[in-house]
Amino acid sequence: MRIDIISCVPDLMTSFFGHSIIKRAQDKDLLNVITHDLRKYGIGNYRQIDDYQYGGGAGMVLKPEPLGQMIDELNETISYDEIIYLTPDGETLNQSMANGLSLQKNIMIIAGHYKGIDQRIRDLYVTKEISVGDYVLSGGESAAIILVDTIGRLIPGVLNDETSALTDSFQDNLLAPPVYTRPAEYKGMHVPEVLLSGHDAKIDEWRLDQAIERTKQRRPDLLEHNDDEKM
Ligand code: ADE
Repeated sequence: MRIDIISCVPDLMTSFFGHSIIKRAQDKDLLNVITHDLRKYGIGNYRQIDDYQYGGGAGMVLKPEPLGQMIDELNETISYDEIIYLTPDGETLNQSMANGLSLQKNIMIIAGHYKGIDQRIRDLYVTKEISVGDYVLSGGESAAIILVDTIGRLIPGVLNDETSALTDSFQDNLLAPPVYTRPAEYKGMHVPEVLLSGHDAKIDEWRLDQAIERTKQRRPDLLEHNDDEKM
């Protein structure tokens, strides 16, 4: 999978993409994340990329020409499955959206800044608008990191243990059950006996019960999306 990210501060993201699971995905050629500096197409001597908004009001808006030129350049060589704009008024990111995106071949992400991007770019090019949560970030770069991380770890072969993404929270609309590691006793607290039993079926059953219980307590809204049998 190839992900192109347009940003006015691409350096904000490079360290993240050079580490951990996303680095491993790129080393294995399963993922290629390429960041593009919007200033490349900034206008005039000062490489201007933003301007005051028509109608007045605080905050700068990213101008349409530099963004449009960069998108046109990328569109010339790559056929994108989605052109995503990250914005607090987009559809809220969830695991099922990430599952769908992880199956795509080429994705472009526009990380906005300031007050956002000119509406005409959204109307002309953007195929999907995503928010990473009901709060406002200073820029789209941290949202892009979240999106790429969420998608990247789902690409088959990226995680060492293929099943580990399947047992993440949200994969079944359930939160993940508690986990324990050695020692079996810590400060007088014991690891649940069943986990030491070596009985796989019983362990699976315990984990499912715990996941359901945790979800009922913390995120009952998720259970509305599940079929009744499991509950
Ligand atoms: N840019 C600023 N806030 C954002 C959010 N919550 N999601 C995506 N992009 C954003």
